[in-house]
Amino acid sequence: MKDETLIQKTISFVQEILKEAEGGHDWFHIQRVFLNAQYLAKHENVNGLVVSLSALLHDIADSKFNNGDETIGPKTASDFLSSLELDQKAIEHVVKIIENISFKNSLEKKERFNSKELQVVQDADRLDAIGAIGIARAFNYGGFKNRALYNPEIPPAVNQTKEEYKNSEAPTLNHFYEKLLLLKNKMNTKTGLKLAEKRHQFMLSYLNQFYDEWNGDFE
Ligand code: ADP
Ligand code: NI
Repeated sequence: MKDETLIQKTISFVQEILKEAEGGHDWFHIQRVFLNAQYLAKHENVNGLVVSLSALLHDIADSKFNNGDETIGPKTASDFLSSLELDQKAIEHVVKIIENISFKNSLEKKERFNSKELQVVQDADRLDAIGAIGIARAFNYGGFKNRALYNPEIPPAVNQTKEEYKNSEAPTLNHFYEKLLLLKNKMNTKTGLKLAEKRHQFMLSYLNQFYDEWNGDFE
């Protein structure tokens, strides 16, 4: 099967799965990550098909929407790719990327799988978690979970473990300090870092304005 056909079939599969997804983790998130990944891939020496398929399949069964089960996504992707004519090595690489892409797993201090392709897809996903879109996604998720926007009496938790991060029910503003503002320094690729810097600055100025408005600071 030609790469183009494999990608088209994967797009249709993912669109169908994500029909009812929360607004920050829907098909349009995947489309943005796919575009980001293609852009980053141009500047890195990577297998473009593995990058494209991993970007498209990386959130088909996010564990936070599946009672914490981290195995459904990789299994679903593996079953789907096995139904296409794709070599076993490429399938295994895509599955490894999906297993290792998430932020919460990066909080665990253990040896993890790594590859240039993983680095590109992870950066592509992280770029969509910051900047204007990142802010929109965070508040959408907070609303979905009925969280407060901000509560000055609940300070952000720094250096969270994976379990603490997963179980947090803190206000959405805390998520900026617990994840979003940490991403810039975790970027893997030079091109990704450059894009992240602009989005990071935008979040900092957003937060400044947020506090001014919150505190009635009118000057
Ligand atoms: P990963 O999938 O990389 O492990 P998460 O699942 O923690 O990362 O987050 C993915 C996106 O979901 C975040 O970038 C953010 O938009 C949203 N999100 C997750 N947790 C929160 C939270 N506690 N508050 C607000 N948004 C959140
Ligand atoms: Ni994602």
